[in-house]
Amino acid sequence: MLLDAGAVSPFPDHLDFDEAATLPCAALTAWRAVAEEAAIGPGQTLLVQGTGGVSLFALQFAKARGAHVIITSSSDEKLERARGLGADFTINYKANPEWSKEVRRLTDGRGADAVIEVGGADTLAESMKAAAVGGSIVVIGILSGAAASFPLPVLFGNNLRVAGISVGNRSQFEAMCCDIAAYRIRPVIDRTFDIARVQDALRRMEGGRHFGKIVLRF
Ligand SMILES: NC(=O)c1ccc[n+]([C@@H]2O[C@H](COP(=O)([O-])OP(=O)(O)OC[C@H]3O[C@@H](n4cnc5c(N)ncnc54)[C@H](OP(=O)(O)O)[C@@H]3O)[C@@H](O)[C@H]2O)c1
Repeated sequence: MLLDAGAVSPFPDHLDFDEAATLPCAALTAWRAVAEEAAIGPGQTLLVQGTGGVSLFALQFAKARGAHVIITSSSDEKLERARGLGADFTINYKANPEWSKEVRRLTDGRGADAVIEVGGADTLAESMKAAAVGGSIVVIGILSGAAASFPLPVLFGNNLRVAGISVGNRSQFEAMCCDIAAYRIRPVIDRTFDIARVQDALRRMEGGRHFGKIVLRF
């Protein structure tokens, strides 16, 4: 394959091609959110929603930076697996629809320093209530719907910063790869499917059974 040199980039040596395939979208978006937009550092608390590709990368990048991570999921079994990846606190968002209260309880009333917002319609208002004064909400996804309403007094009263991001650029990709290499981070791959089984892969994603990334092999 002949490619423009500006359109390709090396990936960390400890990863195979399946793992590297997970980097350009989900990982890069998560890295930019954690490292640049939220600028999460040691001792801070990051809230991530669900156990999909973006959120698990955000969990891994935040733990590498010495942060505490609270993760939500609809599944207790997935929450247990997230603990295995370093999550400090877990919340089942089905059992706790007002999970912002639980985030406040877990942070001694303070709230999370930053929230990785992937839920959209059903989660944005809770994310704002879960954020600490001066906290950041990095808006990435719309898993539960694209039109959201949220409490404006919480936005200005708590001096929140809401930033929408779309993936990242080449230099951010290279910086992310340095972190992945330095911390020996391995992408969480749920399953790998041959392209001939693309329908099975889509059904697995549609059913919400996946934990991390689904890889298609061409
Ligand atoms: N802005 C960008 O540049 C960018 C880049 C990449 C992705 N995205 C977007 O970001 C979102 C996430 O992408 P992804 O690849 O991580 O998706 P994914 O791997 O399919 O993640 C789906 C998971 O999110 C969780 N989830 C679903 N609805 C939820 C809700 N209402 N509240 C909390 N968690 C919920 C579920 O986790 P549990 O099963 O654990 O409940 C589900 O398994 C998508 O909307 C995607 O389009 C945007």
